[in-house]
Amino acid sequence: MPTLFSQPESSLNSFAPRLLDWFAENGRHDLPWQQHQTDTPNPYIVWLSEVMLQQTQVTTVLPYFARFMDPFPTVQDLAAAEWDMVAEHWAGLGYYARARNLHKGAKQLVAVIDETGEFPQTLAGWEAISGVGPSTAGAIMAMGLHRYGVICDGNVKRVLTRWAAIDGDITKSATTKELWALAERLTPTENSGLFAQAMMDMGATLCTRSKPACLLCPLKDDCLAHAQGRETDYPVKAKKQPKPSKFSDALLIESVDGEILWLQRPDNGIWGGLWSLPLQFVEKVDGKANGKTATKKSENDEGKPSGDIRSNEKVYEAEFTTAEQIINEWLIKNELVTESVSNTLLDDAPIKHSLTHFHWYLTPRKLTVDNAQILALNKKLAAAEIDFKWLTEQTARDSLGLPRAMEKIIER
Ligand code: ADE
Repeated sequence: MPTLFSQPESSLNSFAPRLLDWFAENGRHDLPWQQHQTDTPNPYIVWLSEVMLQQTQVTTVLPYFARFMDPFPTVQDLAAAEWDMVAEHWAGLGYYARARNLHKGAKQLVAVIDETGEFPQTLAGWEAISGVGPSTAGAIMAMGLHRYGVICDGNVKRVLTRWAAIDGDITKSATTKELWALAERLTPTENSGLFAQAMMDMGATLCTRSKPACLLCPLKDDCLAHAQGRETDYPVKAKKQPKPSKFSDALLIESVDGEILWLQRPDNGIWGGLWSLPLQFVEKVDGKANGKTATKKSENDEGKPSGDIRSNEKVYEAEFTTAEQIINEWLIKNELVTESVSNTLLDDAPIKHSLTHFHWYLTPRKLTVDNAQILALNKKLAAAEIDFKWLTEQTARDSLGLPRAMEKIIER
């Protein structure tokens, strides 16, 4: 019988049994969020771990997961927590929008539980939760509820494009559709959770991006990419545009007692809700900082580069938070000049921090202020209802949710 897919029925039918046999023998069975060995799975644990595992590897997630479960053992604990507590436990995992969605999602889940007495029981119910896409929802259905669920995340797409030699660009919706259809065709109706976990393990441990361990693979006999020795040609993905660069000074505004000014970032935007040193956008001319901190938002540059470090990178437009604008004006008005934090030119190199959409080059600069200056600045910040704190580096590190880039700066 002809099939919709490039593989014959016999291969499609034997895919799951082969994968599950391999998983039973060789898969990971001791990850703390796994629920396949219990009859009473905990959807909270699966939801939490799946959100942490979006874009982040198991080894990185493990300690964060443990640190998170301690103060937030249930979804009710997470929903009731202050955002700062959540941010503090997430800080360092990156992609902070996930943490904000997690906190929001916890509140949504508690509302569902209060109304129905249980976690959502359908795919649509989970997809309605902030930060839960179709694959995460499928994973929770299958692994967190032991119901039927299909996953098709990045790992699965890599396995399937290789096995079925799917040449379409995986960023295109036609290819996504084809991959979802194949994932559905291959997922068994019984034990879809075990199958989901096995697919993830397969993608993470054998069918890896650059060095797949094909000799150990239970699917090698009919893997179409393997037959042609073209494993690493898959998945086909449109080349990404190079990331633009942005340059900022990170100000260590320090009191005589060694306390530094920290600002809470606005909820929307980068590092929303986390705490940061005041940042001051630096304009670039011919690839070098022109030594001048921009004094206002650049309104008419339309994001065009005025020069950059590498010719293929675009410089981001200026941007200030309200607090940073206040500090910028205060510096200019009082003719305060920040200084380099190091004595050697070499140490003056900015700290490079890469985010999803751009590289951020952050140069620490310091400024010591006296009590009268602190009072004047505090007054301006308070008048604009800015959340700020004066804390030593150590106290900030221990008590605030700091983005990884800020840790890099204070560790330097
Ligand atoms: N990646 C995403 N979800 C995962 C899981 N449950 N186990 C291992 N890797 C994963």
